[in-house]
Amino acid sequence: MTGPLPRPRGALAALEPYIPGRSAEEVMERFHIRTVIKLGSNENPLGLSPRVRRALIRSLDRIHHYPDGDCTRLRERLAERLGLSPGHFCVANGVDNVLTCVGLAYLDAGDRCVVGAPTYTAYVGLARLLGAIPVEVPLRDWRYDVQATVAAAAGAKAVIVCNPNNPTGSALRHDEVQELLERIRPEVLVVLDEAYAEWADDPGFPDSVALLRRHPNLMVLRTFSKIYGLAGLRVGYAIAAPEIIGALNQVREPFPVDRLAQAAAEAVLDDKAYVRASFENNRRGKAALAKAFTGLGLRHLPSQANFILVNLERPAAEVAERLLERGVIIRPGGMWKLPTWARVTIGTPAQNAHVVAALASVLEKTRRGRPRARGGRR
Ligand SMILES: Cc1ncc(COP(=O)(O)O)c(C=O)c1O
Repeated sequence: MTGPLPRPRGALAALEPYIPGRSAEEVMERFHIRTVIKLGSNENPLGLSPRVRRALIRSLDRIHHYPDGDCTRLRERLAERLGLSPGHFCVANGVDNVLTCVGLAYLDAGDRCVVGAPTYTAYVGLARLLGAIPVEVPLRDWRYDVQATVAAAAGAKAVIVCNPNNPTGSALRHDEVQELLERIRPEVLVVLDEAYAEWADDPGFPDSVALLRRHPNLMVLRTFSKIYGLAGLRVGYAIAAPEIIGALNQVREPFPVDRLAQAAAEAVLDDKAYVRASFENNRRGKAALAKAFTGLGLRHLPSQANFILVNLERPAAEVAERLLERGVIIRPGGMWKLPTWARVTIGTPAQNAHVVAALASVLEKTRRGRPRARGGRR
């Protein structure tokens, strides 16, 4: 049937579609392979914790009842751990969903929202969707530029700092975030996206809860998708002054986190062994991958997260495509306008060894296949 159709909001025309990392299922089907190593979406390679499995099974009998829309128990537990009150927390369907709530609650059309570049692409998309204006401040030496961010914040409604930053893995230290907060007007909402904070091993990494006590315009975002291994269940939360949390509660869905997700999040919070094993695996894997990239002659950035950004010095999308044939998923940097770079999630020791071997073989082939520049080597 043809004919006129309802027209979506004008803001949608400015949106670039979010392209998620490839799924293991898609790659298995396409290449007829049975094992895929997925290092493209910064997930926890250790998989499901047994404690979470038991909690999920226990909650199955109650899924005909709506969940607790306020995530009361989870907020109480988080409050206890961080020495805050449950009123300091808003839990939603992943940090992505929390970000949407932040936008709905705080960004009017025409408001400026300062972000880094390159960083997590969802921030710019969210601002555009709401008719707000994303102001992209280039990173300096691969890190958020505090001075330039402060300058841009002068005319802004909100600033989003991704710390550690995706895709660079770089992180601002406590004193740098403190300086940022001290120099930005208190009317500006400062959002610190700490999706990767639990992986950080720099002792100078910000104590954001301490900063929150002194700066009521600060909001910190955390997720259960990364070190807690629950990306498939979708649980993330904001920590902020109760007045700010109140605004998020006004715009969030009535039941943003389902029963299973709440049960899993509560269970994994107690699972110290799983979190410790995840951290240790990452610390060792990060060193091993960094060493292997250096061995392959590839430049890479130091990381405070569970991934490494590496310069493949050839079109990374092509390399990523060839790795798919070998059952390895990584994330090429085109979406961040870094076409020769790729972001590789740190896996288990066996996965890391496999990705390095596959990469070495692909690089060898692309090197050989590359046409020589006329006049010899450059
Ligand atoms: C910086 C950053 N923030 C937020 C998210 C999304 O987190 P969630 O899975 O909780 O929605 C991601 C996911 O990769 C991320 O990289």
